[in-house]
Amino acid sequence: MLAVTAARFDADDPLAALEVGDRPEPEVPEGWVVVELEAVAVNHHDLWSLQGVGLRDEQLPMILGCDGAGVDPDGNEVVVHAVIGDPDAGGGDETLDPRRSLLSERHPGTLAERVAVPRRNLVPKPPSLSWEEAACLPTAYLTAYRMLFTRGGLRPGDTVLVQGAGGGVATALVLLARAAGLRVWVTSRDPGKGERALELGAHRAFESGERLPAKVDAVMETVGAATWSHSQRSLRPGGTLVVAGATSGNDPSADLAQVFFLQRSVIGSTMGTRAELERLISFCDATGVRPLIDSVRPLAEARAGFARMLDGEQFGKVVLTV
Ligand SMILES: NC(=O)c1ccc[n+]([C@@H]2O[C@H](COP(=O)([O-])OP(=O)(O)OC[C@H]3O[C@@H](n4cnc5c(N)ncnc54)[C@H](OP(=O)(O)O)[C@@H]3O)[C@@H](O)[C@H]2O)c1
Repeated sequence: MLAVTAARFDADDPLAALEVGDRPEPEVPEGWVVVELEAVAVNHHDLWSLQGVGLRDEQLPMILGCDGAGVDPDGNEVVVHAVIGDPDAGGGDETLDPRRSLLSERHPGTLAERVAVPRRNLVPKPPSLSWEEAACLPTAYLTAYRMLFTRGGLRPGDTVLVQGAGGGVATALVLLARAAGLRVWVTSRDPGKGERALELGAHRAFESGERLPAKVDAVMETVGAATWSHSQRSLRPGGTLVVAGATSGNDPSADLAQVFFLQRSVIGSTMGTRAELERLISFCDATGVRPLIDSVRPLAEARAGFARMLDGEQFGKVVLTV
């Protein structure tokens, strides 16, 4: 079958590690099923994999991809939940299973014609979502949903700052937060991306690092070192900083005095549970909010989609159709 793989690692030139070609059919462990994929989507996670983050040499070649939607063996239209974990081992939350992994970390991912997943990882796709829209939800949108509503505990009327407006998770945060009745502020290095975030529903857009007119209830952080101190400065006393990524660097100053003196909460968040993915899909169905798609191209042209992400040109999700 056609698949997109990390054939090697290249920290400096991830596209040099990418191969699009024929791979063996997926192996199907007991209790797993094969999904015929219709559409899949690319995440920054796939670029990390090509750079050797989270994978070891002996796991190569690895089929990339966490996001996908397709048809299960019974003919049902499904969205694939990407977290491979046991809820019982995580106190009812599979993301807290110490042995949890994502598709494409220990098991082959979704950037292929077919993928094998545990049966419990299939979530029904409502007819109101297109294949392309459904394929965007399992990673960036699920992460955003859990950051805002589960880990961040935000309520309608709160003000939230989203750092790095152009990113996949960031656009998901803007769309979901606005649809849920939050006041949404964004930052971006690129004024054009700020403008586009306003078109998506953000109330205000600021340059990266710019002083805000008021402190916010919560900051959603996926950029990391480049925006961390601005995130701290922007938060009201007692506010919440939810962090789910560190694209620009992992190790900024923690500024502990800011944390304790102003009684702030710094909360990590990763992906989400199957139950949260179901609620996210229901939220999209009920409100009409839809994932923002940057571009759609055939799976065979995956390299061009990856290049778009690598160059930071994308605004929204890069989708591949199978
Ligand atoms: N924990 C989880 O479950 C989870 C899930 C999904 C993603 N993630 C992580 O979250 C991060 C974002 O993922 P993504 O898929 O949204 O990536 P992405 O689409 O590549 O977005 C990254 C955004 O970060 C901003 N940025 C990058 N470098 C920057 C810098 N030096 N200074 C300021 N801003 C910078 C950019 O925004 P502007 O150009 O607008 O400034 C860019 O659009 C990644 O590190 C990813 O691994 C984690």
